[in-house]
Amino acid sequence: MASFLITGASRGLGLAFVKELASRKSSEVSNIFAGARSNVPALQEHSKTDPRVQFVKLDVTNPDSVKEAAAQVEKKLEGKGLDVLINNAAVCHYDMQKMSNPTLEKDIMREMTGLEEEFQVNVLGVQYTTREFLPLVEKSELKKVVNITSTFGSISSASDPAIAWSPCPAYKITKAALNALTVQYALEYQNKGFSFIALCPGWLKTDLGSQMADLTTEEGAKASLDIILTPGQVYNGKFPMIKVKGWETQEEAASHGGYAGKNVYDGRNIPW
Ligand SMILES: NC(=O)c1ccc[n+]([C@@H]2O[C@H](COP(=O)([O-])OP(=O)(O)OC[C@H]3O[C@@H](n4cnc5c(N)ncnc54)[C@H](OP(=O)(O)O)[C@@H]3O)[C@@H](O)[C@H]2O)c1
Repeated sequence: MASFLITGASRGLGLAFVKELASRKSSEVSNIFAGARSNVPALQEHSKTDPRVQFVKLDVTNPDSVKEAAAQVEKKLEGKGLDVLINNAAVCHYDMQKMSNPTLEKDIMREMTGLEEEFQVNVLGVQYTTREFLPLVEKSELKKVVNITSTFGSISSASDPAIAWSPCPAYKITKAALNALTVQYALEYQNKGFSFIALCPGWLKTDLGSQMADLTTEEGAKASLDIILTPGQVYNGKFPMIKVKGWETQEEAASHGGYAGKNVYDGRNIPW
C-alpha cells in the first residue's frame, strides 16, 4: 500500500497520474495527494468519489506554499511516510515564430524566452518541493522521488534532429539542470534506501506536448508507473525512457505515422 504526491496535478500528465492511481486497488494505493495551484473541477470530481484523492494547494515556486503543503500532507498521513513524490510540474516556452517557420532568421539564444520562469518552476521548484517532502519520504517504505524530465534535457542527444528541431532552448537547459539535480540527490541518498529517478514520460498529448504527440497521457502515466514501481533501487540516479508495447522498435514506432519512428519507447536508459 503506497502513498503518492504529484505536483502539477491540475491537467496533462499530472492529472493522468491521479486518474491512473485512483483506478488501482486500495491494497496498492493508499493516498493520492494531488498538488496543484488550484482545485480544478477534474480534481474535485475525483476527490468527491474517491477519498484517497486529496487536493493539496501547491505552487512549487513559492517556498511558503511548499512548506504549508508538506505540513498538510504530514498531518493527513498520521505518522506514516510518503512513499512516492512525483515532481511533475513544469513550464515550457517554445519560440512560436521559429516553430512555424524553422528557416526564419532569428537568434533564439540571444532572444531566449522564459529562462528565468522555467528555472523557477522546472529546477528550483523541484528543489523546494524535494527538500520539504524529504523527511516524509524518508519515513516511508518505498522512498522514491521521481523527477519528470525529458530527452530534451539530454546534452549528448542535443544535436539529434528529433530534438534539435524544437525551438525551446530554455526548457532544454532546465531539464539538463534537473537531471544534474537528480544525480546529486541520488548519490547523496543512495545509502539511505532512496531512489531518485530522472524519468522521461514520452511525447504526450498535453498542452505542453501538443496534440501532434505520440502517446496519450494515460499511456504515459501507466508506463511511468511501471518504472516508478519497479522494486528496489535499480533506477536510482538513472534517466529511463518509458516502455510502451508496440513502440519498442524503430519499425513498430514508424508504423504509427507522423513523427513516429523518431521516438522509440523501449525502457532504455537515455544518455545524459
Ligand atoms: N508532454 C510531453 O510531451 C512531455 C514530454 C517530456 C516530458 N514532459 C514533462 O512531463 C511533465 C508534465 O508535463 P505536461 O505535458 O503534463 O504539461 P502541461 O499539460 O503543460 O501541465 C503542466 C502542469 O504543471 C503545472 N505548473 C506549472 N507551473 C506550476 C507551479 N509554479 N506550481 C505548481 N504547478 C505548476 C500546471 O499547473 P496550472 O494548471 O496551474 O498551470 C500543470 O498542472 C513536465 O515535467 C514536462 O516537462 C512532458
